[in-house]
Amino acid sequence: MKNLVTIKALEKEKIDEIISLAKKFEKGEINSSCVNQNLSLMFFEASTRTRFSFEMAGNKLGINLYQFDTQNSSLVKDESFFDTIENLYAIGIRACVIRNRERIIEDLINKNTKMRFINAGEGNFAHPTQALLDYYTMKDLMGSIKDKKVVIIGDIAHSRVAKSNIELLQKQGADITLVAPNYFKDDSIKLNWSENLDEELRNADITMCLRIQKERIEEKIPFDDYIKNFQVNEKNINPKSLLMHPGPVNRNIEISSNLLNSNQAKTILTQAKNGVFVRQAVLNMILGGLNE
Ligand code: CP
Repeated sequence: MKNLVTIKALEKEKIDEIISLAKKFEKGEINSSCVNQNLSLMFFEASTRTRFSFEMAGNKLGINLYQFDTQNSSLVKDESFFDTIENLYAIGIRACVIRNRERIIEDLINKNTKMRFINAGEGNFAHPTQALLDYYTMKDLMGSIKDKKVVIIGDIAHSRVAKSNIELLQKQGADITLVAPNYFKDDSIKLNWSENLDEELRNADITMCLRIQKERIEEKIPFDDYIKNFQVNEKNINPKSLLMHPGPVNRNIEISSNLLNSNQAKTILTQAKNGVFVRQAVLNMILGGLNE
């Protein structure tokens, strides 16, 4: 595996391989094969979980990490992104983890650079390592998710997490329902859509909440309507359902603060923890071959 840009581009077997390698890293059953490789972390959008877990994963693997200082790089002097990448490669960087407001990685790959890339979240398009760590968490806590009812609720239209999760859940044979108001629907996604949150949550095996992506929305958001009809809380959740959220959470908007404080919401921090093992696996697969 040279790059990780989308879940769509991964065969099911490759996803299973990543998950199985992540489990080995969690159990301490395998050593790094990318010690002393050089990796740059390029975050052009805010991040806590993704950035720290890539950093933690890189440290555990013995990788040399280089934070790309977006405000003080020569991009501000109008150097192109491609030229920046080529210069980083010349200096010795062999892979870049990129989070960006727009899609950029595929363009760079198509320009035949030798640099390898990992998508850490591009606009509303894709966030593949989030979907992988979500699947890792589901599989760990539930076993197979084939035919399990997964209800994804909220701002599907602007969510890269939803898009990558949908691609992955489809490959694993889950039964997906999307619950969203009209203003957060994406008609290009041909799946079962519903506006009846209570009914859909009743039989949900997995309940996945999403944050409203305020930073990507220009129109006024009807928060009161959203909270009334689409907030997941202690009254409407199936107590047997696995409760998930990629974070960051906006308390009392997509999920009630009481529910977030409950035992049922502990999975959300488990997701954050599992992000380290999954990112170790991805980094090891992408940078590992370079030491041979
Ligand atoms: N889930 C996620 O991508 O969180 P961060 O934005 O904090 O990285």
